[in-house]
Order: sequence, then structure tokens, then C-alpha cells
Amino acid sequence: MGQINIILIGPPGSGKGTQATRICDRYHVPMISTGDILRAAVKAGSPLGRQVQATMAAGALVSDELMIDLVRERLEEPDTANGFILDGFPRTLAQALVLDDMLAGRPCPHAIAFMVPEAELERRLTSRRICSKCKTLYTTGTIYGSEEELCSKCGATLITRDDDNLETIRQRLLTYRNTAEPIIAHYRGRSALAMIDGSRPPDAVTEDVTRYLDAAGRTPR
Ligand code: AP5
Repeated sequence: MGQINIILIGPPGSGKGTQATRICDRYHVPMISTGDILRAAVKAGSPLGRQVQATMAAGALVSDELMIDLVRERLEEPDTANGFILDGFPRTLAQALVLDDMLAGRPCPHAIAFMVPEAELERRLTSRRICSKCKTLYTTGTIYGSEEELCSKCGATLITRDDDNLETIRQRLLTYRNTAEPIIAHYRGRSALAMIDGSRPPDAVTEDVTRYLDAAGRTPR
């Protein structure tokens, strides 16, 4: 298979990170999560982190200018030669248009949009826990024998993301509602979009994602 460029779109909690982690090995491409990059910067207290901390805590979007620079730099890394999975970018039409320019000369990206009802998104995000060490995702109430909330893989403590409180979750959902449609329309217009029901169990979602990407990867360009 040649270069494959994948874009994951979807509201907070729709499973973008979960699916990106599952499929990056299959296509031998790096997962680029803009949210993870920003959270690492906040944790490190870097100038970027200090710049974006309040915006993220409010559930709003970081400026296009900053995000575009960040992604442009990341896509110039040699590990993206076979392609990439972008999780969380583009998030505005402006970002999508600049991404088109950045990808000039590369195969057209395949966009996947996950659809999940908001009540389910709220349930997932209010109960999401993340391993502080290996970053495995959990939903509280489903961790076997782990009342103290320890990671069943590496034993480290599970933490809650700063923006996973109900008020910020609702703001993030509103931000998505206000910005997503033009991006989805952009990729639909280029026949490079799959809409996938993300409310089903993760394995069923992964099956649909890989079926779409496998078929798309075989399409002659
Ligand atoms: P970001 O980190 O991208 O967060 P998000 O879009 O809010 O998405 P999440 O990471 O919360 O959810 P997800 O869809 O990855 O779901 P997950 O797999 O974790 O962005 C954070 C912030 O950064 C933004 O608010 C913004 O401020 C800023 N930012 C980032 N990119 C930006 C950009 N391009 N422009 C401007 N600002 C930007 O799953 C959620 C939970 O559900 C987990 O517990 C998981 O185990 C569970 N789960 C997953 N799939 C299933 C399933 N099928 N069934 C049941 N449970 C499931």
C-alpha cells in the first residue's frame, strides 16, 4: 500500500483517539493528536502550553494560526513519509483549507467522521480515566478489580483530564456543533469522507474504519 493520509473528525468522546491508536500500526503511519501535543505542552509548562492552557480549560478552540504552524511543522517530520493519522485537526474550515495546501503532492486524505449521540458522549467523557503513565483509556465502572483506579496494564494511577468536567464537556460539544459541518461538507464534496456510527462497541467501529481505509487504499490514484 502506498502513502495513506487519514483524518479523524468527530465530537469530543466520539472515539477519535481510541480508533487512531488501534489503526496506526495497521497502516504503519504515525498518529498525530493535536490535543495530546497541546496537553504535553501544558504539562511541561512550555511557552506554547502557557499560551493555550486557558483556552483548552474553557473548551474553546486554540487559534488557527497556532494550530496550523504546529501541524505544518509536525508533517515535515520524516516519519510521515508513508502517511499519517491526524486526530483533532482540522477543526475549522480554515484549517482544512490550509491542510489541503500543505498536502499538495501527497495523495488525497481520507476523512472519517464519527457520529455519536450527545448523551452518550457526556457519559463517556464524565467517566473517562487515563493512565498517567501508558495513557491507556478507561471508562469508570468497567475496570476489573481496580477500586483504587489503577491501570490494569502498568499499575500506574488513573487520572481525569482537566477538561473532562461536565461544564467544559458541554462547552466542547457546543464548539464542535458550531464548527464541524463545514469541515464535513468540505471532505464530502471531494468524495473523501466516510461517516461512521461511533456509538457501537470499539471493535465494530474499528471494523468499519479498516474496511473503508482498506478499500480506499486500493483505489488507483
Ligand atoms: P482533543 O484532545 O482533540 O479532544 P476532543 O476533540 O475533545 O476529543 P477527546 O480526546 O475528548 O475524545 P476522542 O474523540 O479522542 O475520544 P476517546 O477515544 O478519548 O482536544 C482538546 C482541546 O485541544 C480542544 O478542546 C481545543 O482546545 C484544543 N485543540 C486540539 N486540536 C485543536 C485544533 N485543531 N484547533 C483548535 N484547538 C484544538 O474516547 C472517549 C472515551 O470513550 C474513552 O474513555 C474511551 O475509552 C471511550 N470510548 C471510545 N470509543 C468507545 C466506544 N466505541 N464505545 C464505548 N466507549 C468508547
